[in-house]
Amino acid sequence: MARFDNSVIERIREETDIVELISQYVQLRQAGRNYQGLCPFHSEKTPSFSVSEDKKIFKCFGCGESGDAISFLMKIESCDFLTAVQILAKRLGILLREETEEDKIRKERRENLYKLNREVALFFMENLRKSKKAIDYIKKREIPGKIANQFGLGYANDSYDKLINFLNKKSFPLDLAESLGLIATSKKGNKYDYFRDRLMFPIIDTKGRVIGFGGRSLGDNEPKYLNSKENEIFHKGENLYSLNLVRKNNNDRKIILVEGYMDVIALFKKGIKYGVASLGTALTERQARLISKNADDIYICFDTDSSGIKATMRALDIFSNDSIEVGIISLGKYKDPDDYFHDNSLEDFKLLMDNAKTSYEFRLDYLKSKYDIEKPEEKIKLVKEFLHDIANYKNPIEREVYQRKLSEDLNVAYETIKSNDVGPIRRYDKRFIISTSSEIKDSIDFELLKLSIIDREFFEKMHPFLESYDFKDDRCKDIYANIVKFYEEKLDDKNLLYKDIIEIHSSDKNFSKNLIYNNKGFLSLEPEEMFESIKKVIEIRRLREKREGILLKMSENQDGGNVSLNDLFLELDEINQKLIAFGEGDFD
Ligand code: CTP
Ligand code: MN
Repeated sequence: MARFDNSVIERIREETDIVELISQYVQLRQAGRNYQGLCPFHSEKTPSFSVSEDKKIFKCFGCGESGDAISFLMKIESCDFLTAVQILAKRLGILLREETEEDKIRKERRENLYKLNREVALFFMENLRKSKKAIDYIKKREIPGKIANQFGLGYANDSYDKLINFLNKKSFPLDLAESLGLIATSKKGNKYDYFRDRLMFPIIDTKGRVIGFGGRSLGDNEPKYLNSKENEIFHKGENLYSLNLVRKNNNDRKIILVEGYMDVIALFKKGIKYGVASLGTALTERQARLISKNADDIYICFDTDSSGIKATMRALDIFSNDSIEVGIISLGKYKDPDDYFHDNSLEDFKLLMDNAKTSYEFRLDYLKSKYDIEKPEEKIKLVKEFLHDIANYKNPIEREVYQRKLSEDLNVAYETIKSNDVGPIRRYDKRFIISTSSEIKDSIDFELLKLSIIDREFFEKMHPFLESYDFKDDRCKDIYANIVKFYEEKLDDKNLLYKDIIEIHSSDKNFSKNLIYNNKGFLSLEPEEMFESIKKVIEIRRLREKREGILLKMSENQDGGNVSLNDLFLELDEINQKLIAFGEGDFD
C-alpha cells in the first residue's frame, strides 16, 4: 500500500462532505448543529442517526454504529477500506498514485474549461456594460445594475464571431470552447458564436465555478431561452440556478423553487435571496434532495399556466417520495413571480407564502378542477387518481393520514379508500440501486420473480435478458425455473404454479407466501416501465461487480504486479463513465 500514505487519507477525511455523502443514502434533516435521519444500519421509526458536519463523523444512538466518511461507505456498500478510499478519492479528484501524463492532461483540461467559462462570463458582462440595447433590455425588465452584477448577467452580441475573436485574442483553443457549447461549427465547417443577441445568465455551482450559461433572446428570436448543452462540467440535473447565492445568504433555511431565471432574480430583487430554478429541465430527484439539504421550509412557486401546474404535480411526486413536505404558493392571476412583483410588494408575497397550500390541498384542488365531483363516474376517477398520487408517499403513515382526510373531504368510506390503496410506488432511485449488499441483491431477485408471476408479458420480455443472470439466492433460482416451465407449458391456472412454489419451499412458507400473495406496490406498475427499470438495475449491478473485480485486482497489484495499473485504471474509468451515464455514482 505504498501510495496510500496517511496524509492522503487524512485529506480524504478532511475534504469529503460527509453530509452530502450520507445524504445519498439517508434523508437527513438539520437539527441544531448536526443532521439527523433514520439509521441505515438498523431498522427504526424515529431518527437516532446523527451526522456532524464539523466533526466529520456519524453516530447512531440506536445501534451504536459510528465512524467517518470512509467507514460509512465501507459499511453501506459492504466494501473494503481500499475500495472506499478509492471511491472517495475519485469524487474529490485526489489521485492515489503517481499522476500519469493522461491524468495531468485530463485535470488540466477540466481546469481550463472552468477558466474559459469564467473568462467568457466576464467577457459577456463587459459586453453588457457596453451595449445600449442590452442595457435598455435589463432596464425594461426592471433589473437594477447592482443585481445584474450580483448574478453576473452579460450580453452575447448579435454577431457570429465576436466571441471567437475574443477567444483567439486570448489564445483560448476554440475546440475547448466548442466542447462547452459556446461556439459551434456550421455544415460548411465554419465556426461561429452559438449565443447571439442574448442576455446571458451564467450558471454557477456551489463551489463558485461557472459551469454553463442560459441565454434569453432579447427580441422575438426563438427559442426564447437557449442553454448550454450537457458537457464534462455541466450536469443540469445536479445543479440549481442560484444555489450558490442561496448558500451564501440563507440563514432562514428556506428555499423557493421557481421556474425561471428571471423569477429567481425578481425574488432576489425584493430581498428574497432564497429562490432557485432548475436548468431548463424538469426537477430531478437529485435536485429535490439538494433543496431539502439546504432548507427546512421549501416552497414551489411555478408558473400559473397549465404546464406550470403539471410541473408542480410532478415536483410534488418527487418530493413526497422522499417524504419532503413542501408548500405551494399560488400567484392567482399573475403568470409567474416576476410578473407578480410588477403589481405587488414583498409583504404581499410573504402573505402568499403564509397561505401556501399543502401538497394534499394542492392535489385535491387540482383534481377538483379536472373532474366534476357531482358526477359519480368523475368522482370515482378523482379518487383513483388521488390515490395514485399519494402512493408516492413511501411512508404508510403519511398515506393513511391522507386517505383518512380524503375520506372525510369527499365523503367516501375510509375502508373503501383503503382497499384501493395502490402504493407505495417504487422508484429505482439511486439509494436503492447503489448498494451492493446482499439484501438488495435479493430484493431484485424477488422483484424479478414477483413480476414474472404476475405478468406473463413482463416475463416474456425479461426472459431473454436473464440468460447469464445469476440469482443470488438459490431459492429464487429454483422458483424461476418453475416459472419458466409454467409459461413454456402454456398453463393458465396460476394456482398450479403457486402450488409448485409452495411445495419447493415447504420449509420456508413465509418466503413463498410473500412471493405469491403479497402484491402490495406491484399491481399498479406498468410492465413496460418495470421492464426498463429492472433491466437497468441488472446492468448496473453487472457493471458494479465488474468494477469491484478491477478494484480488487488493483489492490493486489499495488506493489508491482504484472498487470499494468494504467490499463486497470482505464478499464475502471470506462465502467465509471457507464455508471455515471446511468445516473450512478459520483466518481467524477
Ligand atoms: N426555458 C428553456 N428553454 C425555453 C424556454 C424556457 O430552457 N425555450 C427554461 C429557462 O430556464 C427559463 C424557464 O424555463 O428560465 C422558464 O421559462 P419561461 O417561463 O418561458 O421564462 P421566464 O423565466 O418567465 O422568462 P421571461 O420572463 O424572460 O419570459
Ligand atoms: Mn415564466
